[in-house]
Amino acid sequence: MTRRRGGGMRAVEAFTLSLAVAFNFFEPAKAELKNCTCSAVYSFGDSLTDNGNGIATFPDQFIDSETNPNGFNFPHHAADRYCDGRLLVDYVAFGMGRKPNYAILRSIAADFTYGANFAVAGATARNNTEWVQETGFSSPFSLNVQVSWLERYKVRLQFYYAQVELNSTTRGVVYQSLPASDSLNTSLYFVYAGFQDYFFPMYYQTMTPTEALDIVDAVVDSIVAAIQRIYAFGARSIMIVNLPPMGCLPALLTLYADEDSEKYDTYGCLDSPNKVSNSHNTLLESRVADLRHNYTNATFYYADYYSVYRDVLKSPTLYGISESDTLTACCGYGGSYNFNASLFCTHSGIMNGGMVNLSYPCSNSTSYINWDGIHPTAQMNWITATLFLNGTHITPAGGFNCSADTSNWYN
Ligand SMILES: *[C@@H]1O[C@H](CO)[C@@H](O)[C@H](O)[C@H]1NC(C)=O
Ligand SMILES: *[C@@H]1O[C@H](CO)[C@@H](O)[C@H](O)[C@H]1NC(C)=O
Ligand SMILES: *[C@@H]1O[C@H](CO)[C@@H](O)[C@H](O)[C@H]1NC(C)=O
Ligand SMILES: *[C@@H]1O[C@H](CO)[C@@H](O)[C@H](O)[C@H]1NC(C)=O
Ligand SMILES: *[C@@H]1O[C@H](CO)[C@@H](O)[C@H](O)[C@H]1NC(C)=O
Ligand SMILES: *[C@@H]1O[C@H](CO)[C@@H](O)[C@H](O)[C@H]1NC(C)=O
Ligand SMILES: *[C@@H]1O[C@H](CO)[C@@H](O)[C@H](O)[C@H]1NC(C)=O
Ligand SMILES: *[C@@H]1O[C@H](CO)[C@@H](O)[C@H](O)[C@H]1NC(C)=O
Ligand SMILES: *[C@@H]1O[C@H](CO)[C@@H](O)[C@H](O)[C@H]1NC(C)=O
Ligand SMILES: *[C@@H]1O[C@H](CO)[C@@H](O)[C@H](O)[C@H]1NC(C)=O
Ligand SMILES: *[C@@H]1O[C@H](CO)[C@@H](O)[C@H](O)[C@H]1NC(C)=O
Repeated sequence: MTRRRGGGMRAVEAFTLSLAVAFNFFEPAKAELKNCTCSAVYSFGDSLTDNGNGIATFPDQFIDSETNPNGFNFPHHAADRYCDGRLLVDYVAFGMGRKPNYAILRSIAADFTYGANFAVAGATARNNTEWVQETGFSSPFSLNVQVSWLERYKVRLQFYYAQVELNSTTRGVVYQSLPASDSLNTSLYFVYAGFQDYFFPMYYQTMTPTEALDIVDAVVDSIVAAIQRIYAFGARSIMIVNLPPMGCLPALLTLYADEDSEKYDTYGCLDSPNKVSNSHNTLLESRVADLRHNYTNATFYYADYYSVYRDVLKSPTLYGISESDTLTACCGYGGSYNFNASLFCTHSGIMNGGMVNLSYPCSNSTSYINWDGIHPTAQMNWITATLFLNGTHITPAGGFNCSADTSNWYN
């Protein structure tokens, strides 16, 4: 498939150029705002946020995240993410003036100076009580487990600093650069969960979109319970991201393709999976309002990813997205949405009598919203982070009200 053979370097240049061009569409940060900052960033969720915990725990199951062309735009090789580049949390952490948010389970060559990422690919928001490895893209490390890791982390951090204070060098303490033990209430907590709960059962067709509506209460309850624990832990700044319109994802558009045009909205997305996202988001937003009411000394940021997605669908070119690429996967093969579940991004095989190799970067990935049929492109993550950090589609009004550090976004 010569069509997919984009030279690596050219793709990188195109990526940088496109970001630069698109950047003109965003107003520069107001000069009078203070610079965005926080002590550290701690993140929770699934493959939309994971940058290494999935593969650390089940290397075989999540090997695709470390296979080309994932990561070809950043850091120019596969880097434990289901994306061609940076994830939303990467942009947010950099925007806060912090460094990459390393996966907590990454024990080799990690840097935890500015926080840690607790998200795990395949993790549900609901407690996972019946995990079997063979069930596909899933993990036993659901949100409740991730929060217990955070609680354990605090114990270790405090113990570590107590040792440092005692100056126990001679007793073998390993000096490591970590956030100060009293910085937990000045850190940002990023919670982006629930996608795994709905998307994968619909994808594996063990749950219809209508049935998925039945689990909304339980999913949102789990997210709220996790946030309450994170608050009790000491968090005072918590960012909660809602779900994208799942009916716009190439994988579901392909699997639930319908002859009836009434099943689609004006953007060509399927109504029934979108209804699941809407139902989830409406309930989540109202529960976030309750959290604000109950815990007045913390700030709960509600980041409305669904609305960002809708804006991009409405005016794709304004964000550097091609009109024809809004619903198709960048890395995929065939059909109306460049997606076929029998040949997923990173894999190769015989399709329609010819060899197709999806290890090559697809050309022009920055013009797509979607990367592999499921996860967004780095371009979409960049658009989203830029809007959230400039106070668009995020509440309380004005969002973080600070000037984001974009110096690490483009290199
Ligand atoms: C944020 O960026 C969007 C997109 O360019 C723009 O429409 C909006 O006015 C900006 N908002 C602020 C507060 O700068
Ligand atoms: C944003 O910050 C500026 C100065 O840093 C301040 O004047 C303004 O009131 C803040 N806006 C909001 C909505 O908090
Ligand atoms: C923000 O950071 C930049 C770059 O480090 C620095 O030049 C600038 O003075 C800072 N602005 C404020 C308001 O602190
Ligand atoms: C989920 O697990 C946590 C412990 O990790 C427990 O406190 C909570 O009650 C469980 N939630 C449900 C709905 O079973
Ligand atoms: C620990 O004590 C040693 C010996 O007194 C001293 O040289 C060193 O600087 C101390 N380290 C810290 C981290 O305080
Ligand atoms: C954070 O907690 C420390 C104690 O660990 C306390 O001294 C400080 O005032 C707290 N800061 C905020 C912003 O709540
Ligand atoms: C808020 O507090 C009320 C009253 O204690 C409680 O019923 C509700 O579950 C709490 N909601 C959240 C989201 O914390
Ligand atoms: C924050 O609110 C909680 C519950 O309302 C209270 O227990 C706690 O003392 C408050 N903390 C601060 C720093 O005001
Ligand atoms: C890549 O996409 C951008 C944005 O849609 C478009 O302007 C550009 O012409 C495309 N480049 C190629 C080589 O297709
Ligand atoms: C996926 O590929 C297989 C094998 O080439 C083909 O039989 C099937 O029709 C394709 N599915 C779609 C939705 O295009
Ligand atoms: C697909 O392309 C990659 C990268 O060039 C190569 O390593 C791999 O062997 C190819 N796979 C097949 C089945 O040809």
